[in-house]
Amino acid sequence: MEVLKRLLKMLIPYRFVVMGSFMSALLVMVLNIAVPQLIRIVIDRVIMLEELHLLQFVTSGIIAIALFKALFTFLQRYSIDYASQRIIYDLRNNLYSHLQYLSFSYYNRMPTGQLMSRATSDVETLRRFLDFGIIHFLQGIITIIGVLSIMFYMNAFLAAVSLAILPFLTITIYQFGKKVKPAYTDIQKQLASLTSVLQENLSGIRLVQAFTQENRERDKFFSKNKDLFDRNIFAVRLWSFYFPYMNFISGLGTALIFWLGGRAVILGQLQLGELVAFNSYLLLLVMPLRMLGWVISLIQRSISSGERIFEILDSEPEVKDYPGALDLGKVEGHVEFRNVNFSYDGEKEVLKNISFTAEPGDFVAIVGSTGSGKSTLVEMISRFYDPDEGKILLDGYDLRDITLNSLRSNIGMVFQDTFLFSASLAENIAYGTPGASREEIMEAAKGAQIHDFIESLPEGYDTEIGERGLGLSGGQKQRIAIARALLFNPAILILDDFTANVDYKTEFLIRRALKNLIRGKTVFLIAQRLSSLKNADRILVMEDGRIVEKGTHKELLLARGLYAEIYKMQCGEEPTAS
Ligand SMILES: Nc1ncnc2c1ncn2[C@@H]1O[C@H](COP(=O)(O)OP(=O)(O)OP(=O)(O)O)[C@@H](O)[C@H]1O
Ligand SMILES: [Mg+2]
Repeated sequence: MEVLKRLLKMLIPYRFVVMGSFMSALLVMVLNIAVPQLIRIVIDRVIMLEELHLLQFVTSGIIAIALFKALFTFLQRYSIDYASQRIIYDLRNNLYSHLQYLSFSYYNRMPTGQLMSRATSDVETLRRFLDFGIIHFLQGIITIIGVLSIMFYMNAFLAAVSLAILPFLTITIYQFGKKVKPAYTDIQKQLASLTSVLQENLSGIRLVQAFTQENRERDKFFSKNKDLFDRNIFAVRLWSFYFPYMNFISGLGTALIFWLGGRAVILGQLQLGELVAFNSYLLLLVMPLRMLGWVISLIQRSISSGERIFEILDSEPEVKDYPGALDLGKVEGHVEFRNVNFSYDGEKEVLKNISFTAEPGDFVAIVGSTGSGKSTLVEMISRFYDPDEGKILLDGYDLRDITLNSLRSNIGMVFQDTFLFSASLAENIAYGTPGASREEIMEAAKGAQIHDFIESLPEGYDTEIGERGLGLSGGQKQRIAIARALLFNPAILILDDFTANVDYKTEFLIRRALKNLIRGKTVFLIAQRLSSLKNADRILVMEDGRIVEKGTHKELLLARGLYAEIYKMQCGEEPTAS
């Protein structure tokens, strides 16, 4: 009910349009009711009493009614459709902008395909509810009330007789609604699951083919699709039964009316025209009654779609600006972790009691075995997650006291897995700084050692790249990402595993070029090759979520701990502190 109320509330800004539509529906109903009366006149007066002069009035009346009915039907449809399209337009925009701000933790939990199906097919269900659903509901109710009133007015006995079939119709509608709701909830769920499979499969199609799993993937999809088919067929069966059954019951009504009404006409208690008009009213009743079942199922479907959409809209970003958060402007880059503990799932501790400081201009290297928490640690500097315990400070301010915007606009981030948009190379490099000039873009590209490669392409910086940077090698993508971070010109630069995909020589060149570009910045660098860390001001060695060693290259070698051990394995020599 809550969901339904919220859905209806969306109509409030368009209440005048909805009212207009309602008024038009009312007029259409009045016109509909008028037609049988004209028919009655034709039969009882024109034909029976041969009052031929009435015929032209009646026929022009019928034509006028048809004309006005067309006009009001148009108004009724157009206004409600307009309102519903506007509401859905706003809803899509809201949904999309809300998705922009949800935290990493939300996206870790929620499969992309799920979100895509909510943003498309569930939104579509709501649109159908807001136009067809509401209009048929209103129209149905109005027609039922109007027609019943005139039936009772004309002949209370016959009206009561035709009402005798109403309980059967109501029970049918009710039972149908009870069965069809879970059926449609199932269908929507299955559709979302199918979208998830499709989305994941398309993203991973290269992997699928590399491991020749096409058949398995196909079968997986087939079986999900079969489930969807079965559920749809179940719903179809309900429908196929519903309409004929409703028709049968209304047929019974017609039979009853002619059985009793026919006698009344013969006995002279009822005029023939009245009987015919009466039967026309009964037929007018059937359509809205049948529609009611459909509308009820649509309402139920919309409630489940609404629930799924509101779930997104109601999810608060876990990481967000607190009231009174400061805008720091340009920061110096002093970073401090104080006894930080963190866990993704509330169970397994991923960071344990992390403490360290980095001064502006420091070059901090983070090393350690895979899964030891390095990426998690640097992502926390950008406040993609908040610590469970302890705090992280930037220039002495707790990150939670700073606006996300001012925090993140001071940090240049190169993620471990590079993501590029399907746009030109220049646009990708300038992603964080859309106003950058071509010279600035080139400067950044030079720093990342990718300028020469870009220039060698026929279209240079305007080369369009495919989705996720298809058409570039892993190292090329990584260097585009580095250029992007450099152009952002942040006080803090975070490079997660930035040399993983480049050769020794390129790494050397990048590091040499970076030297000038990163002067004065606080740099966090996660690296696998220890040989590149000789200049680091501080090296943090991580193991299983803890910082187990801290110091410079020399100090760590002398300590003969984990660092010295890894160094020995990488260089194949006894560590010397020279
Ligand atoms: N989004 C996530 N949800 C749940 N657990 C996660 C998530 N990301 C990482 N983890 C877990 O947290 C731990 C630390 O992961 P993290 O990515 O920080 O390691 P890492 O040191 O960067 O490893 P690598 O060197 O392989 O990049 C791992 O045990 C990992 O399984
Ligand atoms: Mg990592």
